Amino acid sequence: MTPSTRTLSVALVGQRFMGRAHSNAWRQAPKFFDLPLEPRLSTVIGRDAASLAEFQARWGFESGSTDWESAVKADGIDLVDIVTPNDLHEGPAMAALQAGKHVACEKPLSATLDAARRMRDAAAAHPDSKTFVWFNYRRCPAVALMHELVQEGRIGDVLHIRGSYLQSWGGPDTPMLWRFDKDRAGSGAHGDLNAHIVDMARFVTGDEVECINGAIEKTFVKERKEADGSMAKVTVDDIVSFLATFNSGATASFEASRLAQGHLNRNVLEINGTKGSVRFDFENMNVLEFLDGADDARVRGWRRIMCTDADHHPYAAAWWPDAHVIGYEHGFTNMVADICKVLGGEAPRVPLPDFADAFETQVVLEAALTAARQGSAVDTADLR
Ligand SMILES: NC(=O)c1ccc[n+]([C@@H]2O[C@H](COP(=O)([O-])OP(=O)(O)OC[C@H]3O[C@@H](n4cnc5c(N)ncnc54)[C@H](O)[C@@H]3O)[C@@H](O)[C@H]2O)c1
Repeated sequence: MTPSTRTLSVALVGQRFMGRAHSNAWRQAPKFFDLPLEPRLSTVIGRDAASLAEFQARWGFESGSTDWESAVKADGIDLVDIVTPNDLHEGPAMAALQAGKHVACEKPLSATLDAARRMRDAAAAHPDSKTFVWFNYRRCPAVALMHELVQEGRIGDVLHIRGSYLQSWGGPDTPMLWRFDKDRAGSGAHGDLNAHIVDMARFVTGDEVECINGAIEKTFVKERKEADGSMAKVTVDDIVSFLATFNSGATASFEASRLAQGHLNRNVLEINGTKGSVRFDFENMNVLEFLDGADDARVRGWRRIMCTDADHHPYAAAWWPDAHVIGYEHGFTNMVADICKVLGGEAPRVPLPDFADAFETQVVLEAALTAARQGSAVDTADLR
């Protein structure tokens, strides 16, 4: 960085899982990427003063605050990064937009479609403020390459999309958390996991979901233990599966579960087209599988592409020598780099989702729950 490099002062709202992932990303990005803006960790905002002080010191924030309402509007803050539970995305986002700040918000955009719509509309009403949503899997090099190959027509017309995001941490021994409370989370595995694979499918194909043809929503663990030993009612799903049709006519299936024994964090997207297929599995995240239907039948089969070639693969040039793999945290760091590029007037190789884009994913999620509850197909146009 030269002395003239402009800074991007960041206020982070929330300080646990994603708080750590994002703080690490804001710290690391300028060390690996040449960026037009240098992130500065200005303020971290949380509710608990003691853990806040420890977090602030560990990650090197200049200040800490337990009052998000004034902290996100403070002079000198350029961007507000929101990593709170889903019901607490809207408040800080609206306040930040009204104060002229840029906003980077965790997914899903909000706990309800109405709140997501208000956020989308507020972003549109403040065009000088840029918005970003942390659909971080777009920024795995293999998913970014999948997007490029499909957009180049390498698999022909998309016919069939299969998204599956399975975890296994949600058994009856897992205590009550905000993630099991509809008022805080909006939904369970659905908004947590299907949100990612719906975003990935929309991103890779460049197409939108037209109709949810059918869906199942199930809650198997109906109550969970609170910290005081009492039992609380679970008000979200454990598993949601649904079938969808895209505008192109492509068919799709999506499934999310927190009760899939043996699947720890299995985020899989496979797309079959008229000329070939592509497949990503986060448990093997440096690899993109590609089948080219034009290959000689004697040698036709899935290719295993290590997406670590600096000259060819998205993001690879910023990291290690060719063939040295990257991990979960790099998706977030790649996203910080792209945010800094956009705000510095550059166009990143991999497009970033904004509030309007994330609203489309939220429409699909809401349409799937509506289809499950009413037992019939739902057109997404009816919810926009
Ligand atoms: N992109 C991803 O892959 C990914 C992964 C996990 C979570 N998320 C999303 O990130 C968000 C946060 O999830 P998490 O796993 O970090 O949750 P978490 O429970 O680990 O952390 C939530 C944070 O919000 C803070 N918070 C809660 N209420 C607050 C208030 N009133 N004022 C200030 N701070 C408050 C908590 O103190 C905590 O620091 C959610 O929207 C979740 O869906 C995204």
